[in-house]
Amino acid sequence: MNLLLTNIGRLAGIRDARAPLRGAALAELPALEDAYLIIEDDRIAAFGPMSSLAQQPGAFRAHIDCCGGTVLPAWVDSHTHLVFAGSREAEFVDKIRGVSYAEIAARGGGILNSARLLNETSEDELFRQGWTRLQELRRLGTGTIEIKSGYGLTVEGELRMLRVARRLREKSGMPVRSTFLGAHSFPAEYRDDREGYIRLIIEEMLPRIAAEGLADYIDVFCEENFFTPEQTIRICTAGRAHGLKPRLHANQLAVSGGVQAGIGVGAVSVDHLESMDDAAITALAGSDTMGTLLPTAAFFLRMPFQPARALADAGCALALASDFNPGSSPSGNMNLVVSMACIGMKLLPEEAINAATFNGACALEWQEQCGSIAVGKRADLILTRPIPSLAYLPYAFGSNLIEKVLLGGEPL
Ligand code: NIG
Ligand code: FE
Repeated sequence: MNLLLTNIGRLAGIRDARAPLRGAALAELPALEDAYLIIEDDRIAAFGPMSSLAQQPGAFRAHIDCCGGTVLPAWVDSHTHLVFAGSREAEFVDKIRGVSYAEIAARGGGILNSARLLNETSEDELFRQGWTRLQELRRLGTGTIEIKSGYGLTVEGELRMLRVARRLREKSGMPVRSTFLGAHSFPAEYRDDREGYIRLIIEEMLPRIAAEGLADYIDVFCEENFFTPEQTIRICTAGRAHGLKPRLHANQLAVSGGVQAGIGVGAVSVDHLESMDDAAITALAGSDTMGTLLPTAAFFLRMPFQPARALADAGCALALASDFNPGSSPSGNMNLVVSMACIGMKLLPEEAINAATFNGACALEWQEQCGSIAVGKRADLILTRPIPSLAYLPYAFGSNLIEKVLLGGEPL
């Protein structure tokens, strides 16, 4: 069972590396012009220049003539909150009228609003909503995704979210990582007993989630008025004891110490990074922790973009992700994320594409199976219509240049 792609104008993102890309390597996106690619089952079996293709298309089960379009690895979205209930456009309008994200959160809106909705929603309905969102993202070229809990904030709600993430993985056949984010906010009942909620996370939620094998990672929203660096370290340490590696929400609204806390607990990634000082940048550059930037969240909250140029120039390993969620990024469109990283943060197109593919895969510890074009990797591919150069992709922001998406070798 095999599939042949011919007349690929540009086959971009050819890479066998294993380590995250940083510095000059982040700006290199190796490509082959006028290429073919062969898929066997769900994997890339071979590729090369058209002139060296020995077989005839008739020898294959199926054949796609790419007509000069560009083929690149599907997006790896390493930070989403894809499972949520309903939407929050009323808060969006409040923000237009001048109310801030922090003010909305303080009056019980924001994350707590989504938590109330989620706890009123059945698992089947949550799955239905999540599946609709995932279908849209697949068509926009997302091939691998991470999904967090964090809108339950109750034992049952958190378990339900993670079970829905598992069902999404099973139904889609996609590589899906799941992350336990019970420490997303303090629920209203624990407003005056924060310690009690942390005990609930550590003593009840974590053991049940670990026993059911529902999560790969543990996450904490380390932020002023949410979880302190000390609380973050305690929760991550407890997560590690259950086999969950940390990845964090850090330095979004303030210079919170989250980056250093994350590095200290060996976090795979620290995400957001809108609010960075020199100490946090230096610490990140000297660590093995990925810095994951979420430009659409900064854009939607009308915050200054993450200092991506300073981070990249300091030698940090950077990934880009959508943060898809109902409060700060109601879009999971990675094409837009890549454009916005170039427009708002001055990443070069090659840097942004690497950050949204190979480094995203590294942030999920899945660089052996996705994130680049290499023999043996999953055949998760985006085929664009013919474009004059790779830079045209982020340049033509808002246009859908995708002609076809193949996930696990199957055209959608
Ligand atoms: O990553 N910052 C924390 N969590 C989400 C937003 C959650 C929400 O507003 O619902 C984020 O931006
Ligand atoms: Fe997030």
